[in-house]
Amino acid sequence: MATPRRVCVTGGGGFIASWLVKLLLSRGYSVHATFRDPDDPKNAHLNNLEGAAENLHMFKADVLHYDTLEAAISGCEGVFHLATPVPKDKIDNPEASILVMLAPAVKGTLNVLQVCSSAKVQKVVVVSSTSAVHFNPKWPQDKPKDERCWSDKKLCMEIGDWYSAAKTTAEETAWEYAEKNGLNVVTVCPCLVFGPLLQPTVSTSSNVLIYIIRGGPNALKNIMWHIVDVRDVADALILVYEKSESSGRYICGGDNISTKAMVDLLKKNYPNNNYVNCNIDIDIQVAPISSEKLISLGWKPRKLEETLLDSLDCYEKAGILQDVGHPSRLPYIFRVAHQE
Ligand SMILES: NC(=O)c1ccc[n+]([C@@H]2O[C@H](COP(=O)([O-])OP(=O)(O)OC[C@H]3O[C@@H](n4cnc5c(N)ncnc54)[C@H](OP(=O)(O)O)[C@@H]3O)[C@@H](O)[C@H]2O)c1
Repeated sequence: MATPRRVCVTGGGGFIASWLVKLLLSRGYSVHATFRDPDDPKNAHLNNLEGAAENLHMFKADVLHYDTLEAAISGCEGVFHLATPVPKDKIDNPEASILVMLAPAVKGTLNVLQVCSSAKVQKVVVVSSTSAVHFNPKWPQDKPKDERCWSDKKLCMEIGDWYSAAKTTAEETAWEYAEKNGLNVVTVCPCLVFGPLLQPTVSTSSNVLIYIIRGGPNALKNIMWHIVDVRDVADALILVYEKSESSGRYICGGDNISTKAMVDLLKKNYPNNNYVNCNIDIDIQVAPISSEKLISLGWKPRKLEETLLDSLDCYEKAGILQDVGHPSRLPYIFRVAHQE
């Protein structure tokens, strides 16, 4: 039997990473997954994946500590770098934001890339975000945003959007490092990711949809959401990894829907939830983002309806939509969607 191809996935127990590990195992890869705490019960679901017993190897590593990454990355032909904090709550001040968000995102990415260079890794897929694309006031309003569009990180910091500042800086750092050191890097920028959860905890982005389904203290603006399915993100990451011709950035943008249309679609199929209030119509003309580059590479995302209904079905089966005695909260990084 041929030796399986060996790759490393950082932040292996996360929402997107769990699906990526599952897909890699199903395609016969041997996977080194990193965790800050491999024994935390929140990561146990990975042991039940098909192929895990033979081909999943767990490593304790913190992206902030170079030395901890060496064992996980050593011997791997490829690395998928996903480990980044995606905070649910407000971080109080710029100093704390630098410590909690910027340092793990930027220094973490640099550490991973440096270890990749010394371990002679052939290709690194870095997961960025459309947060590193969207916030560009110079981009023409009516022109779809593509891979040439970069968020203005200073603007992100000025408006207190530390997540977008961190993702933009981390991706810029990855490109600077790759160009200077001749490392084969590809970046993928997903928009808001929904879809069924494999892990027992609820990810920050999934909390947005749960807020929409359960309702909460604040109404939401009828804005346009760019949504992609977690299974399609995992698929995109493997696609750019496996295609020798892939290069540069790839927007992984899925489909668009307004808050109202999303509530209507879900209500029609699952009428027994509260759903968020969304009464005031505002101008929802938002310049779309284009995933043409990824689609040209062969990416085929599923229909948004399937993503939304599969997500709700998963939350219902996991008991996440039951009354837990306190109202749902919209993660702080999505606060712009709140109606004042
Ligand atoms: N979900 C989205 O809508 C979305 C959209 C665009 C881009 N992304 C990007 O996709 C990636 C994964 O996001 P996700 O939604 O799957 O989030 P997630 O479920 O919160 O996963 C993030 C992972 O990062 C790990 N991590 C955080 N800080 C770390 C550190 N210092 N050292 C090692 N690991 C650390 C976490 O591990 P612990 O368990 O140890 O905390 C967790 O496994 C992130 O880079 C995120 O920015 C997500």
